[in-house]
Amino acid sequence: METSFVSRGFVSFCVIVFLSHFFLVGAIPIPATYDGFTNPPRPNHEPVLLEGFIDPLCIDCKTAWPTIAKVVAAYGPRLSFVVHPFPVPFHHNAFFAARALHIAASLNSSSVFPLLELIFKNQASFLNDATNEESPASVVSRFVDLAVEIGLPSDKFARGYTQSNTDQATRISFKYGCARYVTSTPSFLVNGVPVTADETWTFEEWEELLDPLTYSVSVETTSESHLSLF
Ligand SMILES: *[C@@H]1O[C@H](CO)[C@@H](O)[C@H](O)[C@H]1NC(C)=O
Repeated sequence: METSFVSRGFVSFCVIVFLSHFFLVGAIPIPATYDGFTNPPRPNHEPVLLEGFIDPLCIDCKTAWPTIAKVVAAYGPRLSFVVHPFPVPFHHNAFFAARALHIAASLNSSSVFPLLELIFKNQASFLNDATNEESPASVVSRFVDLAVEIGLPSDKFARGYTQSNTDQATRISFKYGCARYVTSTPSFLVNGVPVTADETWTFEEWEELLDPLTYSVSVETTSESHLSLF
């Protein structure tokens, strides 16, 4: 009796391990380039496409960022990095924060990552508990203050919060993440395929994932990175 219970338990265990492996590792292998044939044809050495779904007010995203920045810097032109702002609804100020990135992009495209990093630095002051007693207008004005800190014009940035195109762009970012089944942040796609990478991943784990996909020819790094390591 007891033996059969144990063996049935063991079988269930194996099934669970198999299934979780299947779901965690992803259903398909990652192609060396984003799938498909293009017109015009792609260059021989195409960068690997890394997409990150990032909520500026997510603590795990802040934790993940220094490693991500290190990976992006290390791979240089072999990696193309896209941040999709993904404001999760249970962070009350996340939509304001994601909208700040779109406003920054409309004023100076090079200011997006510096602003994201500045929001990370000040993240604690924008979290739910810290802002329960604060008006939305006051929270927005503090995002404007951060934008000014990195050299963006105060009046234009504040006006961005009243313009419908930045509202629309932020909604589209959110919907894009929903359409890609993003349910938590940070989430990552490599060449369009979901990967299990998260804030616990070390630089070495990223290397294990990316090295087989990126070309090994040494390339002089010419692209300027706007990401810092804090
Ligand atoms: C755009 O932002 C970057 C990063 O903050 C800054 O170095 C650059 O001077 C800005 N460009 C303009 C035209 O303001």
